[in-house]
Amino acid sequence: MSGVLSLFDLTGKVALITGSSSGLGWVMARGLGRAGARVVLNGRDTAKLDAAVKRMAGDGIPAIGVVFDVCDKQQIQKGVQDVFQRHRCIDILINNAGIHLRGDLAEISEDAWQQVLDTNLKGVLLTSQAVVPAMIERGGGKIINICSLQSERSRPTTGTYAAAKGGVKMLTKAMAVDWAKHNIQVNGIGPGYFLTSMTRPLAEDPQFDAWYRSRTPANRWGYPEELVGAVVFLASKASNFINGHILYVDGGFLAAM
Ligand SMILES: NC(=O)c1ccc[n+]([C@@H]2O[C@H](COP(=O)([O-])OP(=O)(O)OC[C@H]3O[C@@H](n4cnc5c(N)ncnc54)[C@H](OP(=O)(O)O)[C@@H]3O)[C@@H](O)[C@H]2O)c1
Repeated sequence: MSGVLSLFDLTGKVALITGSSSGLGWVMARGLGRAGARVVLNGRDTAKLDAAVKRMAGDGIPAIGVVFDVCDKQQIQKGVQDVFQRHRCIDILINNAGIHLRGDLAEISEDAWQQVLDTNLKGVLLTSQAVVPAMIERGGGKIINICSLQSERSRPTTGTYAAAKGGVKMLTKAMAVDWAKHNIQVNGIGPGYFLTSMTRPLAEDPQFDAWYRSRTPANRWGYPEELVGAVVFLASKASNFINGHILYVDGGFLAAM
């Protein structure tokens, strides 16, 4: 890669993407691999993760998988140590694992609240804490936290998720403030609505689909591949002076009244 495009070259960089056995995480991981990164996939389900690693190889990207639950500090530490043994470092961490449990806030159970907050918010902190000391020792790194339109707005029945994703936005800024001095850039990506297993119930609801399209200037759902440019940019030296920024990839949703 020559000239200005070398700014985006990730050749040899090790990228750990949490929650990448399916959905947006898998597609972003493949994009990072296509930019040259050595990809480490993650999820909780071993069989699903093995299949994801195989699919990645089928697309010409050699990847490894590490099983851990981002809610479990011990599992994360073990998984990250496993990556260090196999690749010696982690240059890029994408905190992508997330879940959505819908319900009116008047009725949402404490258990559902805890699951969503633990996975979507605490998991970002715990995984980053496992990775950052080695980044500091090596003189830098890149962390990208996956936010959401719900980092800025809520809809009926999405309050728990909005509380967590709003937290991820501010955690991103706080991490950027704490770690910029170590040459670690922490930023966020806020996807609009993309079709995955998480959003399938919404896509299959004609009323939601019509509302969402009419509310989005681009008048369509996002294609997961459309997140790749943003993730490669924020993972590469092209973004070395960008800290604590949330890049919304949303077809203009947040720009519109
Ligand atoms: N799809 C959208 O339109 C959209 C929009 C905005 C933001 N997002 C965000 O983008 C991220 C990915 O969403 P998605 O739509 O791709 O979801 P998805 O299709 O449901 O995939 C979620 C992935 O996360 C893994 N995962 C779930 N809980 C985990 C845990 N505790 N520890 C480790 N891995 C875990 C899942 O694998 P296992 O089940 O094997 O663990 C799976 O690989 C999430 O943070 C989501 O909030 C999505």
